[in-house]
Amino acid sequence: MSIKVAVMPVAGKGTRLLPLTKSIPKELLPLGRKPVLQHVVEEMQAAGVSQLVMITSESKNSIEQHFATDAELERQLHKQSKTELLDALRFLGEGSSCHYVEQHQQLGLGHAILCARDAVGDQPFLIALGDARMSDSGDDVTSASQAPALTIPENNASLCKRMIRLFEQSDADVAISFQQVPLEKVSRYGIAAIEQPYSDGDEMFILSSLVEKPSAEKAPSRYAVAARYICKPAIFDYLERTTPGHGGEIQLTDAIQALIKDGGRVIGVPLHATEKRYDVGNFETYYTAFIEMALNDPQCGDAVRKTVAKLLQQKEQHNDR
Ligand code: G1P
Repeated sequence: MSIKVAVMPVAGKGTRLLPLTKSIPKELLPLGRKPVLQHVVEEMQAAGVSQLVMITSESKNSIEQHFATDAELERQLHKQSKTELLDALRFLGEGSSCHYVEQHQQLGLGHAILCARDAVGDQPFLIALGDARMSDSGDDVTSASQAPALTIPENNASLCKRMIRLFEQSDADVAISFQQVPLEKVSRYGIAAIEQPYSDGDEMFILSSLVEKPSAEKAPSRYAVAARYICKPAIFDYLERTTPGHGGEIQLTDAIQALIKDGGRVIGVPLHATEKRYDVGNFETYYTAFIEMALNDPQCGDAVRKTVAKLLQQKEQHNDR
């Protein structure tokens, strides 16, 4: 068994990023030279997942346009022998397919996933939130010349590949990626209660419950859901029965919690210390992710770094006055 399909919910309104996202889908915001969603698609392809199902909305046509072939543009680039640019445009690659399903009402993440039921059919599938890119250690802020030699630990396959392996090996019903967050940020995420024994550094843990955006006082841990899930198709039955929860929305978290209550096996896969999550969900994380990607750009990274260093120096001098 292997995972072939990824569902990517991209219909959200991006209200935390208004006015920027009034007409630009947040999933098309740039992280370096590519929109965040293109990074996510490439992450899926690298994990061997070739069928992409995007849950989109009427107002987000530009997402479909980004992944469609622009024959006229390609013809022009070909005529001008701009082969590098042509290659840069062929990111979907042969063998991958992109299917679009419209979510007519924005009723929450759980509802968006339910919209994918017919497209997914009766097979396990990956869920990749379209506003977050997961990367391994290769994206640290060091120029190629400065990058230290990385020691790759055993089993250091990419996050999604690791999730697929652990999902299959442990015959789980759901696998979720997790990242530890500071206590003051737990209320932004789905938070896991962990069944013991588990010690930091283990490859996976078993969840005893999952709660959406708890207060710091009520959070059962600091392990926060980090934008990637793998589910067996049984999750659709749970989603159908899920009523609106946090924020009045149909939450994927609540469907997973109901499955745990019924004895379902849900595993958590923590990010390695070298793995990062770049998300564009709010201005702080978006700015941080963008700066890091710009500093890391193979062509202009060094120049950007010098400018940023100068700006920081000027700021410090200004503050000292
Ligand atoms: C969603 C999920 C939440 C998760 C988060 C980040 O929330 O509901 O459990 O922690 O994504 O992966 P959102 O950011 O859409 O409000």
